[in-house]
Amino acid sequence: MTLILAHRGYAAEYPENTLLAFKEAEKAGAEGLELDVQMTRDGELVVIHDEKVDRTTDGTGLVKDYSLKELKKLDARFKFEALPKKELIPTLDEVLEWLSGTKLVCNIELKNSIITYEGMEEKVINMVRAYDLSDRIIISSFNHYSIVHSYLLAPEIEIAPLLSEGLYMPWIYAQSIKAKGFHPHWRAAPDQIVRASLESGIEVRPYTVNKETELERLFKVDCSAIITDDPAKARRIREKINR
Ligand code: G3P
Ligand code: MG
Repeated sequence: MTLILAHRGYAAEYPENTLLAFKEAEKAGAEGLELDVQMTRDGELVVIHDEKVDRTTDGTGLVKDYSLKELKKLDARFKFEALPKKELIPTLDEVLEWLSGTKLVCNIELKNSIITYEGMEEKVINMVRAYDLSDRIIISSFNHYSIVHSYLLAPEIEIAPLLSEGLYMPWIYAQSIKAKGFHPHWRAAPDQIVRASLESGIEVRPYTVNKETELERLFKVDCSAIITDDPAKARRIREKINR
């Protein structure tokens, strides 16, 4: 069965990358989450997509220039102002603590392509190990040096390269860096690529699949997982196809 991973949580209906969005994704029937990690000035791992806080909070400036205490003063509700209370930027620690009480899998995307966060891989791995979550975590990144670094530090934790464009035989590339799967943009995951990868034992988890036609196609081709902003919609479509 194709797993449904909620992109930044249930980002279609709740403020992305907040505990609220993660909890609602679980309620909506997602089997897993995708989240993005950046690092504060004082070296804390925080769950936020952009390098800057401007788009998703009421603050301005770079995450790396904030201490965790300062970052925790911001409101991350952004376009969901109608929500009754402030949502805070969660730390990775807070998310993993909650996650450990669920059965969800979690794709941690290291956002260290634009800014190089020194030591981010070690910190993520230490935290995953501390919560004993190694078998439920997939570490991905557009920075493939970073995921290979993670693999060398912690071969027990799965890694997956993010691919924004189509590669020639991406399953061979994945195997070459000891990844058991890869995460392509959905346009870079046509049926023949999905099939050839699965036949080679390499999993394919395309992002960010929100269109009904693409969800249907990827469920029909038995893709390993899809990463979507709308886990409830994906559940409905998957149920219709498997009926
Ligand atoms: O991890 C899949 C997807 O999240 C990659 O792109 O920009 O949404 O983090 P982005
Ligand atoms: Mg992401």
